[in-house]
Amino acid sequence: MSIDRPAEAGPGAALRVACSACGATVDPLAAEPFRCPAVGTDKGDVDHILECMPTGPAPVFPPPVADLGRENPFWRYRAFVPAYRIARALGLDDATYAAVVDRFDRAVAAVDGRPMRCTPVRAIAAGPGRLWLKDETGSVGRSHKVRHLYGVMLYLLVMAEAGGPGWAGLRDRRLGIASCGNAATAAAILARAADWPIDVFVPAEAAPGVLARLEALGATLRLCRRSAGQAGDPCAHALRAAVDSGTLPFTVQGPENGLAVTGVETLAFELAEQLWAHGEQPAWLALQVGGGALASGCWRGFARLRDLGIISNLPGLLVAQGRGCHPLLRAWRQMQADVGAGAESDAVLAAAARRRSRYMVPWSGLPAGVASGILDDETYDWRGILRGLVHSGGMMAVLEDADIVAARDWVRAATGIEVSHTGAAGVAAVQQRASHRSGAAVAVLTGHGTG
Ligand SMILES: Cc1ncc(COP(=O)(O)O)c(C=O)c1O
Repeated sequence: MSIDRPAEAGPGAALRVACSACGATVDPLAAEPFRCPAVGTDKGDVDHILECMPTGPAPVFPPPVADLGRENPFWRYRAFVPAYRIARALGLDDATYAAVVDRFDRAVAAVDGRPMRCTPVRAIAAGPGRLWLKDETGSVGRSHKVRHLYGVMLYLLVMAEAGGPGWAGLRDRRLGIASCGNAATAAAILARAADWPIDVFVPAEAAPGVLARLEALGATLRLCRRSAGQAGDPCAHALRAAVDSGTLPFTVQGPENGLAVTGVETLAFELAEQLWAHGEQPAWLALQVGGGALASGCWRGFARLRDLGIISNLPGLLVAQGRGCHPLLRAWRQMQADVGAGAESDAVLAAAARRRSRYMVPWSGLPAGVASGILDDETYDWRGILRGLVHSGGMMAVLEDADIVAARDWVRAATGIEVSHTGAAGVAAVQQRASHRSGAAVAVLTGHGTG
């Protein structure tokens, strides 16, 4: 990567880290900006989640270098990246940050055969307006999940490089993740590349191939079983207990690690730049929703660009879950009812942060469906998604398995990309809502393979 151009955000380009529910702040130079420090100090209906917000002058966008396809997004969009801002605030210069990214990229490529890179997008004709497909299936770990965790690992590596009080004791703590597949794979690859011990909390009935890969990557398997009477995902419960005892949440649920959500903003930056190059802004952004960090973070990336005056319009957010597990729908209906009752939408959104159980309750029964990546019992990042739906006049689709299978087959036939069912669910949503949209839509092919 080249460093022969001015930094886009220099010393003084800062970062504010605050809980979007209770307002508690964290100094990311002194303590890890993962989980809100107020978790556990209230009665439990507060939806604590830390948000990392760059402050200071607006970064240059698009960054002044042409070759998007070969660049690492955590380098290209570093002016937005918390780890970069922290590096600069700790006195590291551009060249040192570049060296940290480069070194880590080489280690990642040694483990997974590919470094972290911006991903391609292509357009196909589909109903009213074009459909742009962002292809994450060739990324590290073969899904978009690496974007969440790469930013977290960069934070740790920057802290290691700079030393100081924020680094003290971090290297002695294990990493932990709750996941049933793609996220655990990405986490195990990055942990292996950084030579950092990791516990993966996975369902005991996870696919044997996934478990074998995780073990081969050196992760320690923590098999979790559902027990009668326990609502929610047993893996998430087990991870939370481990984090309470000192494990670092190297995981993709925003309440456990707000920084992880931020990494996927790079998807929005890439999309905005790539479509811009074609003279287009997406009218709709279609995303499949499991735990919700993907949709929440991606939409927030677009919102940041709009707030900075870089794009003029926000895409409408179109989110999708399957018939056999759609906990977000209840939250969205409740939000629509509350806003429809005459309350001002931002006030309702703010109040919702302190009334979690009014909106988000774990799915009752066993989540089921072909798109195994979106079978989360809870949409942990529900609030960021509702904000996106409210602010963009968005929509939610509940998909039948047959429609997801058809969308996956259609994408495979049209593009040759071996997208998974989960990865094609956003396309199924675009197809289901074809009559409701005009203009270009974007869907993200988030994962490769079967589930
Ligand atoms: C391929 C793929 N796409 C989308 C998702 C959904 O992302 P999120 O859990 O952030 O909503 C997942 C989650 O596991 C996934 O594996």
